[in-house]
Amino acid sequence: MNTVKTIEEARHQVKVWKKEGYSIALVPTMGSLHDGHESLIKRAAKENEKVVVSIFVNPIQFGPNEDLASYPRNLTKDKLLCESAGANLIFAPEASEMYQKEVPTNVSVQELAVGLCGAKRPGHFDGVCTVVSKLFNIIPADKAYFGEKDAQQLAIIKRMVRDLNFDIEIIGCPIVREEDGLAKSSRNVYLSSKEREAALILNKSLTKARQALSDGEKSTETLKKIIIQQLKTETLAKIDYIDVVDAASLTAIEFVRKPILVAIAVYIGKTRLIDNFIYES
Ligand code: PAJ
Repeated sequence: MNTVKTIEEARHQVKVWKKEGYSIALVPTMGSLHDGHESLIKRAAKENEKVVVSIFVNPIQFGPNEDLASYPRNLTKDKLLCESAGANLIFAPEASEMYQKEVPTNVSVQELAVGLCGAKRPGHFDGVCTVVSKLFNIIPADKAYFGEKDAQQLAIIKRMVRDLNFDIEIIGCPIVREEDGLAKSSRNVYLSSKEREAALILNKSLTKARQALSDGEKSTETLKKIIIQQLKTETLAKIDYIDVVDAASLTAIEFVRKPILVAIAVYIGKTRLIDNFIYES
């Protein structure tokens, strides 16, 4: 497995593979890789002959008061995980390689970015769509793998690919969790042991909502109340948002029908964590 830092080197390698007729997968990440990322890489390696993992902490998707500077970085460890999971190439550019100007040409998927994380993190999804478009152009893969952990991101990227006619198939992969139910996240390292314990409330509250849905609950307001009630039992938890939306359009709904996305963002201390599930009614 090779690691390259320039666009030219990445392009060159992918061109050679294309010429040789290999199927190519791309797994975009910001590094600090864990089992969630690993599941994407392993699946990509199973379904494709060559796997490129991009590792890039994308500055333009972080807001001014967010954790760009402190975001965990560990390329040495990431390389080991990529290699053992079956990656063939890591593309790990510096920010100066990806952006020449402070404000780049922007890709924006407005409609789907209005609610959920989009409402709380202005400009975040423009930053994500812009960098993912660039990655799709630098590494013209057959398939790209994204986690359902970031459900809104996945929906937005699918829409972007459709709207802008990118010739790439987007594959969504299930959320990987710790044994006690906490969704794996690069940001979990910020949690103190007390906060780590408190963070279990995210999955617990979603489990309650899922139970209510299985029991026949149809009102999205009631579902939200159930989640709020659970979250309030944890003093370290501060709700950022709770949303129950149509899983495809991400628009608010009053009553449960079609697949729905139940998504939450909660601060545990200073750390913002997200979790969700999709319920197919
Ligand atoms: P990052 O947070 O590093 O995540 C990279 C990919 O891993 C995303 O598709 C994310 O949904 C997936 N992922 C993270 N935790 C997961 C988990 N517990 N289970 C399954 N998949 C998980 O998402 C980004 O980076 C960036 O926004 C990016 C798309 C790379 C653009 O900069």
